[in-house]
Amino acid sequence: MLQIKNEDEILKKLGQAVYIAGTQWGDEGKGKLVDILSGKYDVIGRAAGGANAGHTICVNEDGESKKYVFHLLPSGILHEGKVCIIGNGTVVNIPTMMEEITQLKEQGIDVHGKLLISDKAHLLLEYHKIIDGIQEEGKKGKKVGTTLRGIGPAYTDKISRIGIRVGDLLDFNYFAEKLRSNAERHMETYGFKINIEEEISYYKSATDVIQGYIKNTAEFINDSYKEGKTILIEGAQGAHLDIDHGTYPYVTSSNTTTGGAGAGLGFPPNKIDNVIGIMKAYTTRVGEGPFPTELGNIEGEMLQDKGAEYGATTGRPRRCGWLDLIVVKNAIDINGITSINMTKLDVLTGFKTIKVGIGYKLDDQDIKYIPASLNDFEKVEVQYIEMKGWEEDISKIKKFDDLPKNCKEYVKKIEELIETPINFIGVGVHRDEMIYK
Ligand code: GDP
Ligand code: IMO
Ligand code: MG
Repeated sequence: MLQIKNEDEILKKLGQAVYIAGTQWGDEGKGKLVDILSGKYDVIGRAAGGANAGHTICVNEDGESKKYVFHLLPSGILHEGKVCIIGNGTVVNIPTMMEEITQLKEQGIDVHGKLLISDKAHLLLEYHKIIDGIQEEGKKGKKVGTTLRGIGPAYTDKISRIGIRVGDLLDFNYFAEKLRSNAERHMETYGFKINIEEEISYYKSATDVIQGYIKNTAEFINDSYKEGKTILIEGAQGAHLDIDHGTYPYVTSSNTTTGGAGAGLGFPPNKIDNVIGIMKAYTTRVGEGPFPTELGNIEGEMLQDKGAEYGATTGRPRRCGWLDLIVVKNAIDINGITSINMTKLDVLTGFKTIKVGIGYKLDDQDIKYIPASLNDFEKVEVQYIEMKGWEEDISKIKKFDDLPKNCKEYVKKIEELIETPINFIGVGVHRDEMIYK
């Protein structure tokens, strides 16, 4: 069993390569741990998804709290001397990436010399965003509630083998020809119009700026590993948004679990020493889809309010509910999670009692899994245990033993039920508000 007493022990205990995985429906607080670990790791890579992700990092600097939000750039970019990779498994919208780079520059962070983009990553183009909107509208009452960032349509082109890749920009005439033919095909199918030549001319000037970042990143990451460099893979979304393992069709369009992390960077999964699962101390979800422990009452509002549960990408309020251990245990299995970071424990301060979902009943039968059928999943009745809450402010606590008794009981009970060590406990938004255990 892993034990991490303080920040200095992290590298020794976690090993040369680590993956950070969301265990719920995204927004678990992955960005914060990625930022902390990036201080120790050499190469940090994003493997899947695109600007649907929103990773918020808060840092106390010069007596001031600074907030950074990442959508496409890896959250490791705040640290000097690191290489951050946007991997082949991602879908990249260049204008969004450029906006992020500009925003960071305004905040005093220069990505130059730190950023690499895989030549095999697929481009997410303006028509993908338009198609995302048209497809959602067409679903009427059955919308997925996507981020409207064009993720599904970009992956659809990739899987249909008509996608355009970042590396194609380096053969610009080929890129322009592909863009013209894809755009015409999509405009005809979906009945919209865009100015193709304007987009081509944007990409001409953007390519001049970014061509130095484009690289065979699978080769780079494997060579780095062989040279003894340490590798941190930053997950986006969560296990239950995974295209295969999530609550389909209310999912995103990539594999957000460990298998996807390997494929999305060309880094072999058997070289990953540890997978850290990020688990919020309760559950949230943005967008549509089943959520058995959702609270439609004042307690749900308290979680939303205290936890500031609003999407970093779309600003939508996140639905809130109690921690669901069936969801987390399933994520532990499919990701091979060896260690857990429980986040936002401070948000539970002040609740008289706290419930934890530990099982489901489906048609009077006890089940310990998530049914593949959405109709069944919507019918499950959650079985809860109820634990005593605590009143004390825990945000300044640095050692597990100093937490209030009921708070320790909550963590220990969950650790016992999920049979996985909780080595990191988030007690506030800032980098230093983390207990190592
Ligand atoms: P991600 O998508 O998994 O990186 O998570 P997000 O950044 O979208 O959402 C997590 C939110 O919770 C962010 O606003 C973080 O600043 C915040 N957060 C992370 N850890 C903690 C914690 O331990 N306590 C509190 N109160 N907030 C946290
Ligand atoms: P991070 O990395 C939370 C959700 C959307 C929607 C579904 C499909 O911040 O945890 P998409 O735009 O991907 O086609 O939307 O997936 N979703 C997220 N929810 N956090 C995310 O990322 C998400 N990325 C996608 O809300 O329900
Ligand atoms: Mg997020």
